[in-house]
Amino acid sequence: MVLVILSPCHPERSEGSPYWDFGTRSFAALRMTAAARRMTAAALLLLCVAGCSMSSAPQFRLNTEGRNPASISRTQGEAIGEALGGLFGTPDEPKVPTGVELDLKRLRAAAGPIAGDAQGNQRGLFRRHCAACHGTAGDGAGPTAGVLNPYPRDFRNGVFKFTSTAGGAKPLRDDLLRTLREGLPGTAMPSFRNLPDRELDALLEYVKYLSIRGQTELSLLQKVVDEDAALPVPTHEVLADDVLPAARSWDEARGLAIVPPPPPSTDTPEQLAASIAQGDQLFHGPESQCVKCHGPLGDGRGQQAELYDDWNLRKKGATPEETRSLAGRFRLPIQRVRPRNFTLESFRGGQRPIDQYWRIAGGIKGTPMPPAGPAPGSPAVLRPDDIWHLVNYVRSLRGHRPPDNKKIPSPLAISSPRPTSGRGDRITVTVSSWVAPIALLSGCRQAQEVPAPREK
Ligand code: HEC
Ligand code: HEC
Repeated sequence: MVLVILSPCHPERSEGSPYWDFGTRSFAALRMTAAARRMTAAALLLLCVAGCSMSSAPQFRLNTEGRNPASISRTQGEAIGEALGGLFGTPDEPKVPTGVELDLKRLRAAAGPIAGDAQGNQRGLFRRHCAACHGTAGDGAGPTAGVLNPYPRDFRNGVFKFTSTAGGAKPLRDDLLRTLREGLPGTAMPSFRNLPDRELDALLEYVKYLSIRGQTELSLLQKVVDEDAALPVPTHEVLADDVLPAARSWDEARGLAIVPPPPPSTDTPEQLAASIAQGDQLFHGPESQCVKCHGPLGDGRGQQAELYDDWNLRKKGATPEETRSLAGRFRLPIQRVRPRNFTLESFRGGQRPIDQYWRIAGGIKGTPMPPAGPAPGSPAVLRPDDIWHLVNYVRSLRGHRPPDNKKIPSPLAISSPRPTSGRGDRITVTVSSWVAPIALLSGCRQAQEVPAPREK
């Protein structure tokens, strides 16, 4: 009997790295405690009762987010599927479109059903570690997604929040690597630092692949459905017009890396206090706009309370009725994004001063948090020194250690130290361990807003 198993922790790696198993295996082959087996059996029963279907040969589902599926004809859907399949293959057999810099060997290790060989080479890494949250197609709507806040990232629009690149740019490989190694504290995104480098490389390659594929799919939907293009769409045209530009934007990110100048000296307590005082003024000043969202106390309670990230903004209508009717067009209910509360919450995108510099200078992509540094097409709002003062100020709000100004890692060669505080990880573990049972009990997809985990 082959069943789909979802179990919160991998038996060998329960320490440090909260961990998901999601795949098709023989039930008997799983090493589990009796209690875990009972729980899994009960959950499976519920899963069947709830009617969640998970086919054993997964396909990329057409991205109908925000659309009325009835407005896409069968012929159109099939034409899009064929074009994408020809270029990118399937979740089990990925392909690399001609001219795109993606490593097929890495993709093969990440794609497909979970398997391993005698040499310890793993396959199906994405399904094993990520799909429970991010979904097989990277649509951010895996079985657990409905109970998470923020939702797991939908990779298909190619936008990543925590990058060291200018506003609007793609992440560097090191940015994604940091996210994988450190996780995103205060969210369900766990740390995968226990995985060997070659597996992390494979997973990163696959995220990039899903993102380029996803952007191509969005362009195709626009052409075929919105603009009623003649069918079939010639593959060479899709390659030239959609795939290669999407792939190029990843290469161009390197040229858009934010390399800050050395910070103003904060070696003495007086210098640090002076920098924090300047940051305080800037934070409350008219140019920076920080208080609008983060509030005068930096506790996330600014005037602008109704904020949404790009993934949720589209679910918002002008009236509550419109928002309700839009809900049917999206897989997950609308969810707000909260400006960070600096007095309580840890930073999500890294704990080092340079991480906050990058957030403030480059903004948090796909969210209302704007870039204060220069972005393609718009000049800088704040000078680099001012950004450093702001970094020192926001860090001071939670008693972070004074920054070590001597070490500014290059954005192209970031070492990934363990976070300065382990607190974020603890939260991640807590969140992850309740996600599976709740997700199963909730029948996979529930219209439920769960408050983001707090640190205290
Ligand atoms: C328990 C759920 C969970 C699992 C498992 C998980 N993630 Fe995530 N992931 C999240 C959530 C939630 C976010 C969104 C956080 C946010 O918006 O701040 C996220 C965000 C991300 C991001 C976006 C970072 C950015 O800068 O925007 C990447 C990349 C990512 N995850 C990769 C992975 C990969 C690769 C795996 C598997 C190795 C994985 N995740 C496993 C929940 C999960
Ligand atoms: C329009 C609203 C808005 C403005 C203006 C704004 N922020 Fe934010 N900020 C946000 C939101 C929303 C988040 C959380 C985004 C997320 O994690 O999805 C955030 C997060 C942050 C973070 C957390 C980064 C991390 O790694 O967790 C920092 C630091 C930050 N903001 C600093 C600032 C500073 C300094 C200013 C002024 C220069 C500012 N913000 C202006 C909305 C705003």
